[in-house]
Amino acid sequence: MANEEVRRVYENEGFVDESKLHQLKYVMTVIQETLRLHPPLVLLLPRQNSEICQIDGYEIPLKSTVIINAWAIGRHPQYWNDAEKFQPERFIDGSVDFKGTNFEFIPFGAGRRICPGMSFVAPILELIIANLLYHFDWKLPNGEKPEDFDMSEIFGAVARRKHDLCLVPFTYQP
Ligand code: HEM
Repeated sequence: MANEEVRRVYENEGFVDESKLHQLKYVMTVIQETLRLHPPLVLLLPRQNSEICQIDGYEIPLKSTVIINAWAIGRHPQYWNDAEKFQPERFIDGSVDFKGTNFEFIPFGAGRRICPGMSFVAPILELIIANLLYHFDWKLPNGEKPEDFDMSEIFGAVARRKHDLCLVPFTYQP
């Protein structure tokens, strides 16, 4: 579906450039859904609370170090239907985005320490993904099925794939 969209939008050009990225609605939802399930920065930058507060009946003392788990929030069943499923369509109505006001989806963080690279990197991600989708059809090696695809991560300062991504590109001729 994502590669159909890219090929439809850039049909006349025969290559992908920045001019029509705004028309790639579905590709953007795929990027959002990927960032929801696999935010590279699992834990946001540490904060300190400037006031005593209560959370779930626990008193949080003044100036505690607060570490927000963006990964767990992005998978919380209270905020997401079928939270563990990859469903880009959930972003299609545009009511939730990563700009830091929807606290259930904060792959770039929120507030004063929100990622300053966010608006720079979003179109870059779209451009890279759109190019890869336009020029190639991607298949899994050795008859592997998408549902068996291993998406486990190694958690460190940033989360990355546990096993190398192995895909077979087939050149697309428009
Ligand atoms: C997909 C790509 C990226 C993701 C998911 C990401 C995510 C994040 C997150 C979650 C934070 C912490 C925000 C918080 O705690 O509220 C952060 C901070 C930061 N990001 Fe990014 N980032 C990305 C790309 C970039 C790029 C391309 C740049 C620079 C061009 C950048 C520069 C920074 C800087 C300088 C900070 C620290 C801000 C501070 O100290 O307050 N990031 N990023």
